Amino acid sequence: MGTPDTRKRLLRVLAGEVLAPPPVWLMRQAGRYLPEYREIRDRMPSFLDLCYTPELALRVTLQPLERFALDAAILFSDILVVPHGLGVEVGFVEGEGPRVATVRDERALRALRPPEALLERLAPVYQTVRLLASALPAGVALIGFSGAPWTLASYLLEGGASKEFLEARRAAREAEGFFSALVDRLTQAVCVHLEAQVEAGADVLMLFDSWAGVLPESERRRWVEEPARTIATALGRRFPHVPLICFPRGIGAGLLAFAERVPCRALSLDTSVPLAWAREALARERGKVLQGNLDPVALVAGGAALERETRAILAAFRDIPHIFNLGHGVLPETSPAQVARLLEILQNCGGGAM
Ligand code: CP3
Repeated sequence: MGTPDTRKRLLRVLAGEVLAPPPVWLMRQAGRYLPEYREIRDRMPSFLDLCYTPELALRVTLQPLERFALDAAILFSDILVVPHGLGVEVGFVEGEGPRVATVRDERALRALRPPEALLERLAPVYQTVRLLASALPAGVALIGFSGAPWTLASYLLEGGASKEFLEARRAAREAEGFFSALVDRLTQAVCVHLEAQVEAGADVLMLFDSWAGVLPESERRRWVEEPARTIATALGRRFPHVPLICFPRGIGAGLLAFAERVPCRALSLDTSVPLAWAREALARERGKVLQGNLDPVALVAGGAALERETRAILAAFRDIPHIFNLGHGVLPETSPAQVARLLEILQNCGGGAM
């Protein structure tokens, strides 16, 4: 009865409400699968120039919202702006992914700028957040984000994308002193970066640990859980009203220990996580809001499987606070029409369900 609830649906679920249909947004919802993104991207000399041009980063962030009824916008930026802001050379090679100048010893570590340098060096990113905060429709939440220290460290050790992560895994094992100092430095930088986004107007934060699953279980505590715990605790103290979503990708049953040790509000699930297990072990028993976890390939393939898999996720999470998302980012091969179809499926499954 009375006036409709105008609070942002994403924030309501992060505060513990169950909504049907659940709020939805997609990792990498802005990007190359949208022709209007490519049109702007092609005009820029480099991807980082796009990230550092607030008016264009704003437009690109808003593009998916102009097509689809999403409940959140995620700042258009990249996890590698943090090392870049610390003074590391970063580039993106077409078809190959990121190239990063390596930081493999104490000397290179000492050459990094202090974490506070981000405030000045990444000022255009925070300016984009400010523009977004005033441009977004009232019901749409604004998500700020950062890469997690281990994932950032792995790029600094490898110099780019990697199959085996040999350098990073070896550094984590052998050079405890150096590697520990590197991860601690990155942890401070991530805190500075996330806090600046909240101050600029972000409603929600997300921490991407894309390569968490590469570490053996015995090392996860030190390099994945502890940094996330430090970050979640620091942010929780300063901004208790801003929920944090953690995405320690590929850690499987390790999500239990992660959920126990890291005081984040929500966990984003990759496609390998069984739905019924996540509901019981992570949501019911450990109180985490869950986000995910449709296979991005289901969104490329479409067809009956897209509807079946979407419905299975909705059914499994219908009675817990759930944010619908993919298990990883939208693939460039995705047709925007399939994204529209996904949103239609979600809409049709809503209402009546509770
Ligand atoms: O829409 C959004 O999700 C917001 C923007 C965003 C980007 N990257 C834009 C981007 C976000 C949240 C990221 C996070 C990111 N970046 C992660 C964590 C999430 C994950 O995917 O695991 C990681 C590991 C990166 C590092 C990165 N950036 C890689 C490996 C690549 C190359 C691969 C690729 O898709 O090109 C990038 C480049 C990148 N980041 C692009 C975009 C839109 C493509 C660059 C281009 O347009 O030329």
